[in-house]
Amino acid sequence: MGERLAGKVAIITGASTGIGKAAAFLFAENGARVVIADINREGGKKVAEAIQAKGQEALYVAADVTHPKQVQAMVQQALERFGRIDVLYNNAAVNFFGKALDTSLEDWNRVFSINVAGVFLCCKSVIPVMQAQGGGAIVNTASSAGLVGLRNLAAYTASKGAVLQFTKNLALDYAADHIRVNALCPGVTATEMTMQVIEDDPDPVAARARFDRVIPRGTMAEPIEIARVALFLASDEASYMTGAAVPVDGGYTAE
Ligand SMILES: NC(=O)c1ccc[n+]([C@@H]2O[C@H](COP(=O)([O-])OP(=O)(O)OC[C@H]3O[C@@H](n4cnc5c(N)ncnc54)[C@H](O)[C@@H]3O)[C@@H](O)[C@H]2O)c1
Repeated sequence: MGERLAGKVAIITGASTGIGKAAAFLFAENGARVVIADINREGGKKVAEAIQAKGQEALYVAADVTHPKQVQAMVQQALERFGRIDVLYNNAAVNFFGKALDTSLEDWNRVFSINVAGVFLCCKSVIPVMQAQGGGAIVNTASSAGLVGLRNLAAYTASKGAVLQFTKNLALDYAADHIRVNALCPGVTATEMTMQVIEDDPDPVAARARFDRVIPRGTMAEPIEIARVALFLASDEASYMTGAAVPVDGGYTAE
């Protein structure tokens, strides 16, 4: 237990699984009232109930970040239940494997719609609330794939690069409103999404070893290791940080 987000209300998108789920538990343990926004109803409700069972406050909201009306409704529900929004952690995204020539326009647009327009829409709905409150913190999830090129991930890599640049833009445009906006750049992390890729490989042990051996630290991250940095960026401890891109990748992008 900690008090690093005491009294704050945090919306976390994509918090039904993976890094977002780890962050939802960690933020709640640190005193935040947490809004879990996700299209995965079953997973989202389970996370909210598990947090409530520990005596902490959480609300699940069914929201697709690509739908402006659902995003607006998410913000309304957060305000009706908790009265304010201090933190927006844009974590929802999808992965898509393929070189440019293997990527259809439909797939490209779907990835950009969730990974980039989703961040845009959530910021557009939450920033006016933060302005009225006198400030807030936004954490946007990019990736090491936003900092360096990664093979066979054309649409995903481009989308995360866009998130990084959008983060810098937001940081400049809203600094005077005391809204801090930073980007988190995780490396490969042992979430459901990653473990599925490994399990689908004809040789899962070799697939895991392939992931691990390119990381200077020698192993992929656990979701909590990414969530801890999100907590820092969301908290007042990061009061002088805005417009930053923070790699949390075991040294991968240091090479
Ligand atoms: N896992 C990794 O190795 C890794 C590496 C770098 C960056 N990231 C980034 O970290 C974030 C979390 O990744 P993860 O591995 O935990 O992913 P995940 O697939 O486990 O979880 C993503 C969540 O987003 C939700 N979601 C998907 N589309 C949505 C939509 N339109 N509206 C609302 N919710 C939606 C899903 O239901 C899911 O709960 C993502 O932004 C991802 O790109 C992950």
